[in-house]
Amino acid sequence: MLPLKEKDKPVVQKLLSAGCCARCVLRFCCVFVQMLYRQPCQDADDTQQGTQQGIDAEPELADDPPKKRIKLDDGSKGSDGSAGSQDTAAPPPAAAPGVCVVCLGVLQEYCSKEHAMKVAEAVKTEDYHFDTIVLSVSLPAQLCVREHSCWLHVKKEMREKCMTRVKDDIVPVKEAFKWSVQGNIAKGLGGVAVVTRSLFEVGMEFKHATTDSDCHFLATTCPDCFRPTKNKDSVFTRMAVVKALDKIPDSKFLIHYPSPPGRPASSCTSQDVQCLHTSIFVAGRYNKYSRSLSQTPWIIDGRRMMESSVEELIAEPLSNSFRAKGFNFSSSGREDVDVRTLGKGRPFAMELLNPHRSRFTKTEMKEIQETINTSSDKIAVRDLQIVTRECMGHMKEGEEEKTKSYTALVWTQKPIEKDDIVFLDDIKELTLDQKTPLRVLHRRALAVRQRVIHSMNARFRDPHHFYLRLKTQAGTYIKEFVHGDFGRTKPNLCQLLKMDTDILELDVESVDVDWPPAIPE
Ligand SMILES: *[C@@H]1O[C@H](CO)[C@@H](O)[C@H](O)[C@H]1NC(C)=O
Ligand SMILES: *[C@@H]1O[C@H](CO)[C@@H](O)[C@H](O)[C@H]1NC(C)=O
Ligand SMILES: [Zn+2]
Repeated sequence: MLPLKEKDKPVVQKLLSAGCCARCVLRFCCVFVQMLYRQPCQDADDTQQGTQQGIDAEPELADDPPKKRIKLDDGSKGSDGSAGSQDTAAPPPAAAPGVCVVCLGVLQEYCSKEHAMKVAEAVKTEDYHFDTIVLSVSLPAQLCVREHSCWLHVKKEMREKCMTRVKDDIVPVKEAFKWSVQGNIAKGLGGVAVVTRSLFEVGMEFKHATTDSDCHFLATTCPDCFRPTKNKDSVFTRMAVVKALDKIPDSKFLIHYPSPPGRPASSCTSQDVQCLHTSIFVAGRYNKYSRSLSQTPWIIDGRRMMESSVEELIAEPLSNSFRAKGFNFSSSGREDVDVRTLGKGRPFAMELLNPHRSRFTKTEMKEIQETINTSSDKIAVRDLQIVTRECMGHMKEGEEEKTKSYTALVWTQKPIEKDDIVFLDDIKELTLDQKTPLRVLHRRALAVRQRVIHSMNARFRDPHHFYLRLKTQAGTYIKEFVHGDFGRTKPNLCQLLKMDTDILELDVESVDVDWPPAIPE
């Protein structure tokens, strides 16, 4: 039944005697036929009765007490016991106390159809939309230690039989597990394709009670390999353990760890299934019509200063529609709380984290846009569309060179007439030196930066007020240009008009970033 050859026999017998499960035997024999891993254990058991008897003939091997240090020559004794004429494709004998010494049960009970169905049910409960799935498996780190120990146990036989194999040829537990379960999980999910790359990931994690104690000897043998890491409950991460095993010479390993590995007291436990859908990015442009709305939540000492924010007003309907677990807002620049953004609006992008729904038609996107528009009169959005992560770069690209247009309502200390301000229209490409404004000095370093006002246009309102339209380089501090910021911005409007001026209102008229593409009405 299994593609194991005559020459594999000694190795197979040795693995079985050591307490390996059927799938681990296949792995160590470098069997890459995925179908063979899928067979339910019972079937395999039926064909293996003979082997079980074979092993019963050597009970002292099958029942090695856990953690007993075994010298290398025990191994040769093991191969003596393999003389049986039975089918070599044997899974672990039922008589052996259950749990596989290498995979700690991952390739046994957890490969059952029942477990696959449980996983499928857990995924269904989450109610995600997906076309394909990718499985991700996380295993306790001591599986690497046990694999290494078992490899050392059979290495000699494997090489002797001209099976020029290295440890890397062995099928990894992760792969074997996926091959075993993916068919049933796919079936449980109505026949979805299990692929190697997908937007939707089903994560299965296994833990084991003795990971730390099993790995402990590594820390004393290779102290450099284990450093406390943030966000991890144990220093024995898979990466660190693999690194340590690489560094420790086999002779030293064998002094500290039994080979073959000892019988475990328990099998791995399976953690809750974790589903994760790749982020979806939505871009658009927003208008802000309120002079008392911040762009992002404004919180000082844990207290909300404003009821809402542009970010939240846009994010809520989007998160609801995509059933996302969170969001990440970014935009092409920002405006102050008291500044409106008019015209075609300011480009923004919203990363929707772990969305349960990810596909929307153009019409549906328009409906979301309408929901946002009608949910508040403080903002509106247009050009709402799903974009790729890569496209997000366009929004920030060349931010310095972009232009922005503003309208400021200016107050003048002395009365003015229409003719007093027309000279402003002739000023072109005026370079300003702007010291970091006093109002942002608490969060920005003191610096002088140069910005250019490309053009100006003044419109008289009354003897103490006029509207000033400005086309500037992005990043120009407009308020400071108007009131001068105690001479920190030079030249400024006070100097140009030879009197005190102040800014009463400011509107952003356009943000000249041609992304995202406009959507025709
Ligand atoms: C939000 O986006 C920024 C930059 O675009 C990124 O560095 C950050 O990791 C993101 N946060 C989350 C929670 O994804
Ligand atoms: C939402 O409001 C913006 C700005 O007024 C407008 O351009 C857009 O067409 C509106 N969209 C919908 C679907 O109402
Ligand atoms: Zn196993």
